[in-house]
Amino acid sequence: MLRPRIMITSFPEQMGRAAADILQDLISRKPSCVIGLATGSTPIPLYRELVRRALNGELCFGQVRTVNLDEYKGLSAAHPQSFAHFMDVNLFRHITMPPENHIIFDGLSDEPDAMFCAYEQQIEEWGGIDLQILGIGHDGHIGFNEPGSCFEKHCHEVCLTENTRLANQRFFNGLAEVPKAAFTMGIGTIMAARAILLLATGEDKAEILAKALSGPITPIVPASILQLHPNVTVVCDIAAYSKMKG
Ligand code: GLP
Repeated sequence: MLRPRIMITSFPEQMGRAAADILQDLISRKPSCVIGLATGSTPIPLYRELVRRALNGELCFGQVRTVNLDEYKGLSAAHPQSFAHFMDVNLFRHITMPPENHIIFDGLSDEPDAMFCAYEQQIEEWGGIDLQILGIGHDGHIGFNEPGSCFEKHCHEVCLTENTRLANQRFFNGLAEVPKAAFTMGIGTIMAARAILLLATGEDKAEILAKALSGPITPIVPASILQLHPNVTVVCDIAAYSKMKG
């Protein structure tokens, strides 16, 4: 098993700064790098810090390309709970970046298979993902790769588990509004990234983080596959780290 680098920070804002340092370092070394973006509450302090640095002129996204992990099926980019809208509100509208430099699944696509092919192809044309940012679900999902009997490799459609829908209902007006399906990068797409930056904050993520990083590698805990990736950095707060052994 390969050991990830683990950076433990005191609180989410500090996690955001530490993660932003990693991105800034990458962007300064490779201005046209390809960054895989994640949504959810966890990366918000990172995006806030990136926006602060961009507005200060410390960071330039002019040549950066980004590719998002996932999107709810059935939500338009304008829907307030779509991940496209999330990215716009939390990052894109505040920074200068050509729109053709970021891709995200179209939640309304009626030809998802063609969209998945185009997505994988775009990533390949851009030279692959340099750094993939990930959060982690309470059941160990990464992107929307839910616990299952096999690791699905490429971009695909998933049925969301009840647990994920329950966890995400806080963003909607009740469970009935939470989509039942989503489009996501596959485990293979994620694992092909040259580096992974896994973010976790809060005590509620402590158990699953420990399982993912030091438990058995199994599709039942999708994030456990990261133990096989040669370049993983985990930036978490003390609360999320609290159940790690050793
Ligand atoms: C969603 C996203 C994941 C994210 C997870 C955890 O289901 N698809 O990419 O990592 O939720 O979200 P949070 O950071 O809000 O706990």
